[in-house]
Amino acid sequence: MTAVPPTSITPKPFLKWAGGKTQLLSQIAPHFPAAFNRYSEPFTGSAAVYWHLYSLREQDRAQFTSVRLADSNAELVNCYQVVRDDVATLIKKLTKHRQQHQKDYYYHIRAQQVADLSPVDRAARFIYLNKTCYNGLYRVNRAGQFNVPMGRYQNPAIFDTTALHSASRTLQGVEIVQADFRELLDWAQCGDFIYFDPPYAPLSPTASFTSYTPHPFGQREQQELADIYRELNRRGCLLMLSNSWTPTILDLYSDFHCLELKASRAINSKADNRGRVSEVLVMNYQSLCS
Ligand SMILES: C[S@@+](CC[C@H](N)C(=O)[O-])C[C@H]1O[C@@H](n2cnc3c(N)ncnc32)[C@H](O)[C@@H]1O
Repeated sequence: MTAVPPTSITPKPFLKWAGGKTQLLSQIAPHFPAAFNRYSEPFTGSAAVYWHLYSLREQDRAQFTSVRLADSNAELVNCYQVVRDDVATLIKKLTKHRQQHQKDYYYHIRAQQVADLSPVDRAARFIYLNKTCYNGLYRVNRAGQFNVPMGRYQNPAIFDTTALHSASRTLQGVEIVQADFRELLDWAQCGDFIYFDPPYAPLSPTASFTSYTPHPFGQREQQELADIYRELNRRGCLLMLSNSWTPTILDLYSDFHCLELKASRAINSKADNRGRVSEVLVMNYQSLCS
């Protein structure tokens, strides 16, 4: 029997994801509600907030009954389902990718059609490409085919066995679904806590924007999201939302509690042109720290 590695390490994102919230957790976490029933993230990405909430629950600093993680990215969702259900096979497949990684191999794996692969092969491909592609970007062409070039890493750390086992343990019993954010309306009930982290509104009309799926997230989607926020507020859900600190976004949520956070991120297309930018955290409840 193979020994299962210890999994008591704090779970943390195992993917690189544009807009990942790890660096903002210390500013966001103090505002989590004190008590709630169920938890959901409709824009899960690398799930930084969920991993953190899970570790708070392990320390008896948060209580909730069940979790629903959703995202519209089918490959991301399949990856979490496989980490939850078959992490051992996934690790074997990733080990093969790690052994064979070089330029031709990267482009061979990138060219594979996901429809021809099993769920575990799709998940291994997704993690392998995520960790070896340029800047961990996720970009697809109109046909939905991943098209990011290989990154220039000397020795990319493709996966960490202990971290994947820890993530797998953390995902047991979690509902993981491919869903558009609008489908949340069929799920949410009074007493649920929902953290929204949508693709951000651009800081300026010319700012570059990362496309995560073939369906862009524009002003119309931001407006629809704000309408859903209002509807869930009426239902009695506890709501927290991140977005960029722009006049349009502040206007959409002007009747809620808007807190300014400072993030360090690339503010134009040159990755080295980093600055401190403001982000908004919108809550529909009085946080204990406000
Ligand atoms: C800013 S990222 C979330 C980052 C995440 N909080 C983290 O820590 O990594 C936004 C996510 O929204 C997803 N997304 C984009 N459009 C969507 C839609 N219409 N419905 C649901 N998810 C969507 C993207 O696939 C992406 O994972």
